[in-house]
Amino acid sequence: MTLLENQQHLSPVWARYTDILVERGEGACLYAADGRSYLDFTCGIGVTNTGHCHPRVVAAIREQAGLLLHGQANIVYHRPMLELVAALRNVVPAPLDIFFFSNSGAEAVEASLKLARQATGRTDVIVFGGGFHGRTAGAMALTTSKGKYRGGYAPLPSGVHIAPFAYCYRCEIARAAGKNTAAISAAAPHTSACCNDPLRQVRHMLQTETVPEEVAAILVEPVQGEGGYIVPPASFLQGLRQICDEHGILLVADEVQTGFGRTGSFFAVEQFGVIPDILIMAKGIASGLPLSGIAARHDVMAKWHPGSHGGTYGGNALACAAGVATVQAIQEERLVDNAARMGALLRTELNGVQQRNTALGDVRGLGLMVGVELVRGDGSPDAALCKRVLATCRERGLLLLNCGPYDNVVRFIPPLVVNDEQIRRAVRIFEEALGA
Ligand SMILES: Cc1ncc(COP(=O)(O)O)c(C=O)c1O
Repeated sequence: MTLLENQQHLSPVWARYTDILVERGEGACLYAADGRSYLDFTCGIGVTNTGHCHPRVVAAIREQAGLLLHGQANIVYHRPMLELVAALRNVVPAPLDIFFFSNSGAEAVEASLKLARQATGRTDVIVFGGGFHGRTAGAMALTTSKGKYRGGYAPLPSGVHIAPFAYCYRCEIARAAGKNTAAISAAAPHTSACCNDPLRQVRHMLQTETVPEEVAAILVEPVQGEGGYIVPPASFLQGLRQICDEHGILLVADEVQTGFGRTGSFFAVEQFGVIPDILIMAKGIASGLPLSGIAARHDVMAKWHPGSHGGTYGGNALACAAGVATVQAIQEERLVDNAARMGALLRTELNGVQQRNTALGDVRGLGLMVGVELVRGDGSPDAALCKRVLATCRERGLLLLNCGPYDNVVRFIPPLVVNDEQIRRAVRIFEEALGA
């Protein structure tokens, strides 16, 4: 039996993009066992922001591994966790300066929900259509990016209300008014009169489906990820902040995918001029080691009953050491600035492709979180083309993922260390694949 044949004993529940057996990664590249190399514009689904095996992160992990692997958070304090708190206090928007750590994005989402409930004494949560928050029971109930994440898993936890997200490219109001929705979407973050409609619907929800006194939190991705890389207007997030303030509801920002420099600021909320009450982080926080966390104001965290939440591994020493090195690398190598610059270059290059190819309905994004919506002549989603393009890109040495409810959005998530040549090479391969 060859090594790869053991794959038959892995659960089929892992939907697979490729059969690549990878040996090692470095920067923006992955190297396979068969000798092939790939430009990795998936980043392990937005995780390896510092690039694969950043030397500083690897050194920190090696050093910590020789000192202490596990110092359980209920039993002892360990240096890496305290150092991580110090590092995060420099980058998380004030006044969110009290932290809780766990292992995955979904766990951090669950933690935010539990905190919001105990802090407010309320039960319900408002989320947005197309949102993705994870696969544990509570997070799954908040997730509506695709039916397959929920199908067959009923009953889901209750108390969840789903409001529409501001998805400008497919905004029916703007289309009915004869506006160019791709232009509106590409100019994000932006304001347009119809952007108020999703906010009006949240207010309507608070009037009809539930009452504000029962709503603990409004939980939102500042830029929708799995839902299609959708950048809402700034007025959308600002309006949610206002609704929360009016009713004593906590605003929770799920920055699992948008955080750690991905969007051209350390956290995406900075670009929308909004400070949430709870901020959720994971993915890019530790360059690939399992770590996640939430940050909240002192007065909110103080209401979380000691012992009512926790976990054996949360804030693991090795992962925290990787987290500290990750934050330092992002800061010292000015990777946030690079993300903004390379993101602008990527969108410019893709806009050029859009002018030559009508299948690119929309090119949108913030920083290095860029989505290209592939459409047919009538504007309907073209999932088949997206699948072919991804496969051809892979054959030609470029790894990309898709997203969106109809699987027709190509997502570009290179590491923040990506350079001009790699961006141009990726777009060239993508354009060739479209024509192939
Ligand atoms: C916005 C967002 N929230 C939560 C999650 C869940 O994170 P994890 O897969 O680490 O549980 C994801 C994962 O893709 C995500 O993109």
